[in-house]
Amino acid sequence: MKLAILNQKGGVGKTTVSINLAYGFAKAGKRTLLIDLDPQAHSSVIFCPEIPSSGTVRELFEKRDAELKPLVQPAQVRGDAVPNLWIVPSNIHLAVTAERMISQHYRERRLDKALAPLLAEFDYVLLDCPPNLGVITVNAIYTADKVLIPTTYGRYSLDGIADLFASIKEIRENAEGAYVILRNAYDARNRATNEYIEQQLDSVRSSLLSTMIRKSEAINQAQISGEPVFTFDPKGHGAEDFEALTQEIMRHG
Ligand SMILES: Nc1ncnc2c1ncn2[C@@H]1O[C@H](COP(=O)(O)OP(=O)(O)O)[C@@H](O)[C@H]1O
Ligand SMILES: [Mg+2]
Repeated sequence: MKLAILNQKGGVGKTTVSINLAYGFAKAGKRTLLIDLDPQAHSSVIFCPEIPSSGTVRELFEKRDAELKPLVQPAQVRGDAVPNLWIVPSNIHLAVTAERMISQHYRERRLDKALAPLLAEFDYVLLDCPPNLGVITVNAIYTADKVLIPTTYGRYSLDGIADLFASIKEIRENAEGAYVILRNAYDARNRATNEYIEQQLDSVRSSLLSTMIRKSEAINQAQISGEPVFTFDPKGHGAEDFEALTQEIMRHG
């Protein structure tokens, strides 16, 4: 199953979800590939001891017939290989490549084409997207079986979601069931905000995942420390919530 983690807003938890869901699937014995599609390379920093200057996902978008396989690396955490987990890293140069691609033919199918020969090798492929609806994100939407949209609890958190749905509908013939929404950084103490956001979510309630990810200092600290919350704080809320999310997605496909 190919899952794009996407929201054109920054800071909503795309990378956090990509890293921890990838680790969660791998931990459950699923062969998992995480493809970092963000030039900021935050997922790559977590799982690659060294980000190569060549051999990143950028190759796919630079060369028409580039293969994905040579770009796949075993993932590591704190110097140890993570069983069942592989990553295709990104780096900052992807941003320039994305700008140059605007005028190329079939540009939105590069990733899908490159991934096709490798699909039998993985149970899950996760795509950590950049914070925009540009050509790289369009590739991810085109490739994915499902789009997972993390959203946080704030006054403006659902702004732009209509544009996101419009992009999904434009790219996919059938947008029905094409996306699910994940509530991230939930804080039970903020009653009024939560009520407001829940009202806003009423129109998309059938697409909401039932797992919510609570706001947790360990999630933030794990990212600073450069590892998934599963290894940083295995017994805390963060690991508990991401375990629940992993199980929910494995149950519902
Ligand atoms: N549930 C959460 N609890 C606490 N901090 C979080 C949570 N989700 C994300 N963060 C923090 O918010 C920041 C932005 O998250 P990130 O996953 O990098 O967002 P994006 O990839 O959408 O830009 C990071 O510092 C991350 O650690
Ligand atoms: Mg990110």
